[in-house]
Amino acid sequence: MSNQPRHIAIIMDGNGRWAEARGKNRTHGHEKGAETVREITAYCAQNSEIERLTLYAFSTENWKRPKIEVEFLMKLLEKYLKNELSTYLEGNIRFEPIGDLSIFSSSLRKTIEQVRSETSGCTGLVQSLALNYGGRDEIVRAANRLIAQNAPVTVESLEKVLDTSENVDLLIRTGGDHRLSNFMMWQSAYAELFFTDTLWPDFNGDELAKIIKKFKTVERRFGGLN
Ligand code: FPP
Repeated sequence: MSNQPRHIAIIMDGNGRWAEARGKNRTHGHEKGAETVREITAYCAQNSEIERLTLYAFSTENWKRPKIEVEFLMKLLEKYLKNELSTYLEGNIRFEPIGDLSIFSSSLRKTIEQVRSETSGCTGLVQSLALNYGGRDEIVRAANRLIAQNAPVTVESLEKVLDTSENVDLLIRTGGDHRLSNFMMWQSAYAELFFTDTLWPDFNGDELAKIIKKFKTVERRFGGLN
């Protein structure tokens, strides 16, 4: 039986370069990148073998960017969630944020919570946005939860208190770099990694379909022997 890409995670890189190559401000690339988020989410929602799509939208390290770019990304995210609520509902898509949301403005937190709760009954694709997310931060927050509960640390107990325990099957990074950048460190332990030079705003359903086709031919052994 071929591999099922149940959980796809994507590092959406290359927005800035896409815009700069067109003589535009980096923020223009993020705007175009949000359109790609919409297209890839719709593609995954229509493909019933894909159950979960996790997108790296803002990392714990992205605060180091110029204030103007960070503020733009915050506004873009809020606008996206507000505009897309009807699309989530019509597409039966459940929105599940991961990351430490406590740092965001009360307005953004309210919007995140509204979309999360209003889509909580959706039973199709889960679209998970990683927001103020870092794999190390997630593991540290999870370990602190166990300490607060005075619970023993095991793979199983830690997994239960992570932002998500859903293992990634297929991890894709656009934009040409070959690194994980602190994304889904725990959940990607046995993920198949695919890298493409395509910049995120140019990524589309056709390219994702080609990657999935290749993914299905890979032999996954999870440390064992087939
Ligand atoms: C990396 O490109 C991208 C980000 C840091 C942010 C991702 C944001 C989006 C895709 C748009 C908004 C998202 C949502 C969910 C509405 P980069 O800026 O690092 O590109 P570069 O490597 O070319 O500089």
